[in-house]
Amino acid sequence: MSSATIIQSWQTNAAAWSQAIQEEAIASRKLVTNQAIVSALAKYQPASLLDIGAGEGWLCRAAEAQIPSLKKIKGMDAIAALVEQAKILSPNLEWEQKSYQDIIAGASHNQEKFQIISINFALFEKELVELLLLALPNYLLENGRIVIQTLHPLMACGDAAYEEGWRDGSWNGFSSAFKDPHPWYFRTMAAWVNLFAASGLLLDQMQEPIHPETGKPASVIFELVPRS
Ligand SMILES: C[S@@+](CC[C@H](N)C(=O)[O-])C[C@H]1O[C@@H](n2cnc3c(N)ncnc32)[C@H](O)[C@@H]1O
Repeated sequence: MSSATIIQSWQTNAAAWSQAIQEEAIASRKLVTNQAIVSALAKYQPASLLDIGAGEGWLCRAAEAQIPSLKKIKGMDAIAALVEQAKILSPNLEWEQKSYQDIIAGASHNQEKFQIISINFALFEKELVELLLLALPNYLLENGRIVIQTLHPLMACGDAAYEEGWRDGSWNGFSSAFKDPHPWYFRTMAAWVNLFAASGLLLDQMQEPIHPETGKPASVIFELVPRS
């Protein structure tokens, strides 16, 4: 599996994604997961936030509006068109076009550190995610934490066997403007927990935000701290 395929897919779908976010077209985000991630960040009253895989910057903007303690907010994404859109929507915040590969490559000489790093529905790979989790503590202040919201394995599994592995992508439920879905790496709950342990991260808290209409988990939120 090449990460270029995933980047290419987001390049293709950058405009459609921006439109979907601006129109609040993804019901589960509007109903549950948007507020869930903002609340998970807000409870720490952080002074600084780095959002990676930030897309067109929705979470940075929501954090700015709802977390008054924040003095520094930076968003990074691999896709130039999404970063440009983020700059237009909130020129007062900091934006950088940086891929996870860039973040991993820069880890050993990074100087800029944050209280929280967030990743909202933006982890799709196997090895790249493993390397990213190893690199991210270099971007954290002491007592910093990583907050990840992702698909809940129970719901994302579908009819396939409950075992980790690559899955075909799909834009089912999205508008017809979305093209070329990319493959993604499905992790069971045990696979996530074992990945965190292998990355030297302690799973400090976990939440399973519930969809009010289905009564099922809409996502899972992992809160991770580096093991000292
Ligand atoms: C589903 S969108 C989520 C965007 C944003 N976090 C949000 O919640 O609105 C996934 C994002 O991951 C980004 N992404 C995928 N692979 C990436 C990589 N290797 N490096 C950086 N960003 C990546 C995409 O460009 C896209 O913006």
